[in-house]
Amino acid sequence: MSSFPQPRRPRRLRGHAALRGMVRETVVHREDLIMPIFVQPGVGVKREIPSMPGIHSHSLDTLPAEIDAILAAGVDKVLVFGVPEQKDAVGSDTWDDEHGIVQKTVRLLKQRWPELYVITDVCFCEYTSHGHCGVVSDGGALLNDPTLANLQKQALSHARAGADMLAPSGMIDGMIGAMRGALDGEGLETVPIMSYAVKYASAFYGPFREAVDSAPAFGDRKTYQMDPANAREGLREAALDVEQGADVLMVKPALAYLDLVKALKDTFDLPVACYNVSGEYAMVKAAAQRGWIDGDAIARESLLSMKRAGADILITYFARDLAPRLPSLG
Ligand code: PBG
Repeated sequence: MSSFPQPRRPRRLRGHAALRGMVRETVVHREDLIMPIFVQPGVGVKREIPSMPGIHSHSLDTLPAEIDAILAAGVDKVLVFGVPEQKDAVGSDTWDDEHGIVQKTVRLLKQRWPELYVITDVCFCEYTSHGHCGVVSDGGALLNDPTLANLQKQALSHARAGADMLAPSGMIDGMIGAMRGALDGEGLETVPIMSYAVKYASAFYGPFREAVDSAPAFGDRKTYQMDPANAREGLREAALDVEQGADVLMVKPALAYLDLVKALKDTFDLPVACYNVSGEYAMVKAAAQRGWIDGDAIARESLLSMKRAGADILITYFARDLAPRLPSLG
């Protein structure tokens, strides 16, 4: 008799590569990825964002080469962020059908690459002189309902320009219902809405705000974005967006909030997206540049963990560079 007890061994499947392949639970595919792009006015502009090596802000004439590279890598979805010629108090560039930076970009993209799926970020902070996500009062408070009216104008204008999907990122109360109503009223009911439903007031957005010059001139976004301490609040926010007709729910940032990704996946029967934001990208790049970590491996492991937590859709600045090494659904 052995003097050791004989517990049931955990069935950890290992060894032969064929066995590992057969029992693998999570795979990141190219089709999961959305690549964010930054567009600005000017000619011949290709400006690298200092804290985001490999990511550039483009003028419309240098953008095509970038889109070719993104498509060649096997990524067929982009999320468009614009920086306007002129910022003003309400962000009127966002609903300018003819001259709006996003509208011009969408028209160019859809005309030249019909196979590209074009999603637009629907917000005001890149377009307002004060950097807040909507209309603000004299006292500096965000005015919810005037902002909703402007959001409707912006959503309609993006959709009319040809956007395939709209992604409102302002966390404005009632934004999904307001946009859905406006779109349906104009015969645009097939344009889906991916809601930044669970968006935290996070320090991880720092490099992005540098890229689009959208840091608030006063105050912060804590009155409309969520407190990182709260998870149940995230579920309540998501439930409201579901009621109002959201088609996809997004969690942002990603890595520090995977509990919310899992919770949303378990609670709602909608696709879940997560946004692997600028600060997450910057940290990996900075450490990799120093040779402290293997940046590629970390990026792949991170994306895998987001999918494992339940994300269907991964918005990531790593998309273009990682996609060639990821399998395709074919
Ligand atoms: C708002 C918006 C932000 C990001 C995406 N949409 C910035 C913010 O909320 O301050 C951040 C994305 C990133 O950090 O990569 N328009």
